[in-house]
Amino acid sequence: MIEAFHMVSFLSILLILIIVHASQALIPNAVGRFPFLMPNVHPYRPELYLCTPIRIDYTNSYFIVGFEPNATMNTAHHMLLYGCGAPGSEKPVWNCGEMASSDEDYVHEVASPCGQGAHSQIIYAWARDAPKLELPEGVGFKVGKDSPIQYLVMQVHYAHIHKFRDGSTDDSGIFLHYTKQPLHKQAGVLLLGTGGLVPPMSVEKMETSCTIDEDKLIHPFAFRVHTHSLGKVVSGWRVRDGKWTLLGRRDPLKPQMFYPLNNTEPIRTGDTVAARCTMLSNRKRITFIGATNEDEMCNFYLMYYVDSGEPLMQKYCFGYGPPKYYWMKDENLQNIPDEEASQLDE
Ligand code: CU
Ligand code: CU
Repeated sequence: MIEAFHMVSFLSILLILIIVHASQALIPNAVGRFPFLMPNVHPYRPELYLCTPIRIDYTNSYFIVGFEPNATMNTAHHMLLYGCGAPGSEKPVWNCGEMASSDEDYVHEVASPCGQGAHSQIIYAWARDAPKLELPEGVGFKVGKDSPIQYLVMQVHYAHIHKFRDGSTDDSGIFLHYTKQPLHKQAGVLLLGTGGLVPPMSVEKMETSCTIDEDKLIHPFAFRVHTHSLGKVVSGWRVRDGKWTLLGRRDPLKPQMFYPLNNTEPIRTGDTVAARCTMLSNRKRITFIGATNEDEMCNFYLMYYVDSGEPLMQKYCFGYGPPKYYWMKDENLQNIPDEEASQLDE
């Protein structure tokens, strides 16, 4: 009897060991943590934008499932992570200021984050001591082999440089959480934006809209807005059968990170997505859409995942903007929520 008991408990322990061992063997889906950091750069002047690349191993696919920032707002004003087909430069570090107007000291080569004409999308944004971003369970950005994302490029905006006056250097960056285990739910980003202009001394509505015609169900889960200094409110919408549903709305002068959406119901084939930036100009001149601080931008980024297959082929939804295009002029749009689209929640 005692012998039998011992036998049973021995067997069960053995069984537990086997199970534990087996489950460990099944952990190729374990999440790795890759430090993607600035290579100890010395920001030599204020308002500097520096970029650094990594080439992703093209023999394997990887899925990025989370972003853990390693920076403080004392050092970095913002960080953006770009997924690129090719990098903007061959250098280990280059000046990639989208807002750079005149840069006479060419310590670093000047180029955009991604190569001209190469696939380019923002997949993560950090500002003001934001916490880490974990994608929803089972969702990842596919990078590397058979993904248009062959490089990741990190841009860090160094606004203030007092702490570097003594010659010290910086390694701000992002720990990428990734897995080699194939994930079925791939993440993607759809960027809505406009061209156009803001007239002097006025409130202008910069608007865009597109119909999703790919045969895919997309699950939106986060959004980010971007304008320069004239932006007051940016809102994004899903329009179905004449009914407008708010996806997200935000003051663009608050930190421009990815935030959870108001509504995460799926977007289907035939739905329209739309965005508006309400801009206020007290300038005596016209402000055009453009890359520098003197110009404006109107952007709404929608981060989503698909249940299976690749994310949308459509990466952008850009329109002419004012004065050529307004929702009001668009015969496909009715019941425009004019007030709500320009109103802030707070
Ligand atoms: Cu910044
Ligand atoms: Cu901009």
